[in-house]
Amino acid sequence: MSVIVHENKAIQQELANGLLADRAHTSPKYFYDAVGSVLFEAICVLPEYYPTRTEASIMSEHLADIAHAIGPGGTLIDLGAGNCAKAARLFPQLHPDQYVPIDISVVHLRGSVRRLQQRFPHIEMTALGIDFSQDWCLPSEVRADRRLFFYPGSSIGNFEPEMALAFLKQLRALCGEDGGILIGIDLIKDHAVLHAAYDDGLGVTAAFNLNVLRHTNQQLDTDFDVQQWQHRAFFNAEQSRIEMHLEARQDLTIHWPGEHRRFIRGERIHTENSYKYSLESFISLLHTAGFGQSRHWTDDAEWFAMVYAKAL
Ligand code: TRP
Repeated sequence: MSVIVHENKAIQQELANGLLADRAHTSPKYFYDAVGSVLFEAICVLPEYYPTRTEASIMSEHLADIAHAIGPGGTLIDLGAGNCAKAARLFPQLHPDQYVPIDISVVHLRGSVRRLQQRFPHIEMTALGIDFSQDWCLPSEVRADRRLFFYPGSSIGNFEPEMALAFLKQLRALCGEDGGILIGIDLIKDHAVLHAAYDDGLGVTAAFNLNVLRHTNQQLDTDFDVQQWQHRAFFNAEQSRIEMHLEARQDLTIHWPGEHRRFIRGERIHTENSYKYSLESFISLLHTAGFGQSRHWTDDAEWFAMVYAKAL
């Protein structure tokens, strides 16, 4: 009980600090409440949002080759596993000895893992509830030899570059000399394609972004009216990132217990960045993080890549 109260206080403090900053911002983790999670699932099947479907097609087309490059057995550590569906597709070819799905929400994991365990009784499964955007480590139940970190979905793009490097360095330290990483990377491409992926015609992405305001109202007791805000997404070529913002349609003031924040028309709340890499720049990042030999697989248009890198 006291833990929950403490967490709420930390969340409220974080949200308030973000809203009171010179350039207001919120953390991407506030996208994913019940409504946000369903909206994100809808985004993933939109024609404009190519990353999910392109990654899936690369994985299915090159599965045998990818599994061959990695080699059978070992421990598959699934970062941000969710429903475990992406990793499960690897099992019949990769035959891991142990599967370790990690997600911030262990409640969701438990059901998925129970079903998966029935389909693959020979794989030892250990579900972990860890927020790996914070300081984290692996418990001793996770076998130490031949660890493969699986990080699909180009989620690494949501880290600031220096945080991405720190995260990859940590994975390199955790995977030992006989381990590796299999990671999905969204590549730099035509700006119109990028814009459409983050501002679809139906407005699902706009709703997903605006939902942060509803979620903030629930967490912090703010009085945001979503109608007064507009979704903005654009590619910042200099920084090689899509920026997501919410823009005030008029001058307005947001109130919450003990505080308020004025916004002038056109002022923005920055909600997320999604960095896009070239293959070369990402592979060089992997090398800087201490990884060695790498292989990659892409779609014909080279919109997305799966990269496998060995520790050495
Ligand atoms: N991690 C996803 C991405 O960078 C999140 C995302 C997709 C997103 N569409 C969005 C975040 C729109 C904010 C707004 O692709």
